[in-house]
Amino acid sequence: MTALAIPGLDHAPTTHPGLLAWVQEVAELTTPDAVVWCDGTQDEWNRLTTKLVDAGTFVPLEKRPNSFWCASDPDDVARVEERTFICSKDASDAGPTNNWMDPGEMTALMTDLYRGSMRGRTMYVIPFCMGPLDAEKPMFGVEITDSEYVVVSMHIMTRAGRDVLDRMGSDADFVPCLHSVGKPLEAGEADVSWPCSETKYITHFPETKTIWSFGSGYGGNALLGKKCYSLRIASVLAREEGWLAEHMLILKLTSPTDEVHYIAAAFPSACGKTNLAMLEPTIPGWRVETLGDDIAWMRFGDDGRLYAVNPENGFFGVAPGTNWKTNPNAMRTLEGGNSIYTNVARTPDGDVWWEGMEGTPEILTSWKGEQISPSDSSAGPAAHPNSRYCTPMNQCPVLAQEWDDPQGVPISAILFGGRRATTIPLVAEARDWQHGVFLGATLSSEKTAAAAGTVGQVRRDPMAMLPFIGYNAGDYLRHWGEVGKQADAAKLPSIFYVNWFRRGDDGRFLWPGFGENSRVLKWIVERLEGRASAVETAIGRVPTVEELDLTGLDVRYEDVADALAIDVDEWRAELPLIEEWFDTIGAALPSTMQDELAALRQRLG
Ligand code: PEP
Ligand code: MN
Ligand code: NA
Repeated sequence: MTALAIPGLDHAPTTHPGLLAWVQEVAELTTPDAVVWCDGTQDEWNRLTTKLVDAGTFVPLEKRPNSFWCASDPDDVARVEERTFICSKDASDAGPTNNWMDPGEMTALMTDLYRGSMRGRTMYVIPFCMGPLDAEKPMFGVEITDSEYVVVSMHIMTRAGRDVLDRMGSDADFVPCLHSVGKPLEAGEADVSWPCSETKYITHFPETKTIWSFGSGYGGNALLGKKCYSLRIASVLAREEGWLAEHMLILKLTSPTDEVHYIAAAFPSACGKTNLAMLEPTIPGWRVETLGDDIAWMRFGDDGRLYAVNPENGFFGVAPGTNWKTNPNAMRTLEGGNSIYTNVARTPDGDVWWEGMEGTPEILTSWKGEQISPSDSSAGPAAHPNSRYCTPMNQCPVLAQEWDDPQGVPISAILFGGRRATTIPLVAEARDWQHGVFLGATLSSEKTAAAAGTVGQVRRDPMAMLPFIGYNAGDYLRHWGEVGKQADAAKLPSIFYVNWFRRGDDGRFLWPGFGENSRVLKWIVERLEGRASAVETAIGRVPTVEELDLTGLDVRYEDVADALAIDVDEWRAELPLIEEWFDTIGAALPSTMQDELAALRQRLG
């Protein structure tokens, strides 16, 4: 067969036969005007950001060096969970919490969608690595995309480019990630600033470790190294190989006497993971440094401890609510420039603004491109609630020096947290690993704007992984149980449950949160070191108000007591909800989880 004459297709800077064949096949299917092999250089960044500015997609920000504003199509603003599929051969392997379609059927359907879908556009081939490139076994991926926005975002979020291709050599395994915005251009047709399609599919093939995404240009739908690879596909790999791929931040906590603990924490999207990861402690002498804000890959080290690596290279953070009080270190990271802002508002002097940021300007260009005054309440939010910044990790002023160590860091504690107005106390410690898995399995949170759908509704979100488990949720919980059996119990991380969001009867938050959460971290570390006491309750071990260091904190004693309270009636009302959730998981739920539920019911009396 003669190769199709697409400029750039034969300029491949690799001899990897599998990669060459796949790129050829995709080019023949999608018929782009040109193919570009990405090298990850500054020159490539400059070329593509200029192209995006010329196309009207990017607006350079005068106030922020090498930074750009852009707005998505108003119908392409968040992950689309109802369009996200796990296409395992067997439907039961996708389980009750994922959308499933037969892989053959999905392949046929999406092949039709991809046919000619890159017409009039350039097809980019992005070699990338999740986690350090100098790892013993680097985790390679290659994303093919027709979006320049995706290429420059992948420059920030992953290790991408020529070094990766070189390290891949001619035989490395990689995860093929195919992405098209699904908007081919006819000859002479003018492009829009945010091309996308009404038809969207975010598809994972766990048996072949392949990702196909169509129709969306937004974040987790399109930057395929992130949620699709590092959570959904990686969770499948982790199950096969005995490790954990989790939706967790990683932080380093140093005490005034220089004891170091690494903590991993899972919260659903838009519940403050980034704020906790970069927290500025309000208690003297304590220090937090950041290793990651969204994803942790955890494997056992030779010493039997669980070590975490952050596979990412940047932060894709929720902008609204980020300010000099809630997250000064994120603000400083952004001051370094080199960032992309999507769906935030723009000031007349070339800066960005979003709800919650200090210094509300008189007049703004909203994320929808309208001139608005934020004081005019009829105008709607200036920034979309799920608007994002995309910024390089290495600009974070509190980045831990070991953040890119391929060995990772040994985890002392795992936190599970959600956003709950009632019931869940500020902090509780699990009695053991299995109880901790139960706390994670029953994690619940009020829905946020991070995914399309109704905000505020309480949903179960096991380990904050509901949208990201690449297989059956019951099997996933079983895997967590198995991981706990792989190691000496004394070396396993302790598991805690936290809730910064509990409210009083009048609706106000009972706990101030943000930097004050360092007081909770301190209690956790003192528990690890056997220096703090706790009260045994029906749901786990909880501190008394006196056990928390509240020095210098202007807070009502009763509020903290209420934040820590275990209300037996609230918990009795929680039981049928947990039962219903376990029924949803169905037959694959490990019996240990039913045992834990029965024990909880008995303790509640
Ligand atoms: C995303 O939505 O693209 C994303 C990165 O994830 P999250 O919703 O967890 O912030
Ligand atoms: Mn996330
Ligand atoms: Na999202």
